[in-house]
Formats: sequence, structure tokens, C-alpha cells
Amino acid sequence: MRIDIITVLPELMQSPFEASIMKRAIQKGLVEVHFHNLRDYTTNKQRSVDDYQFGGGAGMVMMVQPIDDCISKLKSERTYDEIIYMTPDGETLNQKMANSISMYENIIILCGHYKGVDQRVRDMHITREISIGDYVLSGGEIGAIVFCDAIIRLIPGVLSDETSALTDSFQDNLLSPPIYTRPAEYKGLKVPEVLLSGNFGKIEKWREEMAYEHTKNRRPDLLEND
Ligand code: ADE
Repeated sequence: MRIDIITVLPELMQSPFEASIMKRAIQKGLVEVHFHNLRDYTTNKQRSVDDYQFGGGAGMVMMVQPIDDCISKLKSERTYDEIIYMTPDGETLNQKMANSISMYENIIILCGHYKGVDQRVRDMHITREISIGDYVLSGGEIGAIVFCDAIIRLIPGVLSDETSALTDSFQDNLLSPPIYTRPAEYKGLKVPEVLLSGNFGKIEKWREEMAYEHTKNRRPDLLEND
């Protein structure tokens, strides 16, 4: 998968891609991430990317020209499956979306700033708008990092068997059951007997029951959605 990220703050975004699972995915050649500094596409002396809002009102708006030029250049070089704008008024990211987007070849992620982007950018180029939750960040960059982490770990070959994404919370609309490692007893707290039994049928059944209980108690909304 190739990810092109358009941002005014590439320096804010780089380090997560130089560590952890995302770094490994890039090293394995499964993912390419390219940053495009929006200021490189400005035509004014100050290299400013924003301007006052027509009609008045607080907050600056990101101008259409630099973003249009950057996206148009990328589109002339390859076809994109999706051109995504990170914005608090987009559809809320969930595991199902992450699963489907992880199968794409090429995507662009546009990070907004200030009040957001000129509506004409959205009308001309954006195919999908994504929010990472009902709160407002100071820019789309951190949202884009969250989004990239969620999709990159799902790309086949990125995770090893031991870290398989198949048993993650949300993968089947259930939260994960409790997990334990050695020692079997710590300060009088014991690991549930069933996990030490070696009976894999029983263990699987226990895990399913616990996942269901845990979901019912914490996130009953997940059980209603199907
Ligand atoms: N930009 C500002 N707030 C955001 C959010 N909640 N999700 C994605 N991008 C954003």
C-alpha cells in the first residue's frame, strides 16, 4: 500500500513511522509513506496556506490552490482508491472501515488545520471524510497517525502470528477477554483454572463467554449493531 500524506506539519508526523509496527511494515516493503509539505505548493511570498473566511467569522480557512495543486499532481501520477480528508465532521473511524481500507493500493490523506479547508477542495477531490472521534484536535495530523496505525497493522504480512489482528477487540464486534501470563499466582491472585487446564475446547468457550460478558458490561452498543 502507498500512503501519500498532505500536511503543513510533516515534522510532527514522521516519528511514529520510524518506530514500532509501522516502521516494520515499511521495512518489509509492505507500506510506503510519502509526506507532502503543503507549503511547497504555495505561490505567495509568505508561503501561507490559509486565509480569512468569506462572510466573516473567527478562524482561518485553508486555501484551495495549494491543496488542489498537490492532489492534482499526485492524481496525475497514479490512481487512488480513496482521497481521505481527516476532519471532526467525517464518519467516525471504526474497525470495519479500517479492515476495508487496509486492502487498498493507493490512498491520499489530507490533514486539515485551522477552521478546515475551503469547501471546493472537498467538492473537487475528497472521496471520504474520516474523524477519529467526537472531539476536536488542533489539526488532522494526529488523527492521520491514528488512522494509519489502525490500517497498517491489518495489511497481510505486517503482524506475525503471535500478534495476529484476528483476535483483537472489535474484530468480531466483541471486546477481548481477560489475558494472563506467568506467574500462575501473584500476591494471592490466581489465573483462572480453565486457562491452566490444557483443554482447548473449554478455554475457547471460556474466552468467548468472557468476551461477551465484558462487551455487555462495557459496550452494550456493540452487541446491538448487528
Ligand atoms: N481534525 C480535527 N479534529 C479531528 C478529529 N476528531 N478526527 C480527525 N481529524 C480531526
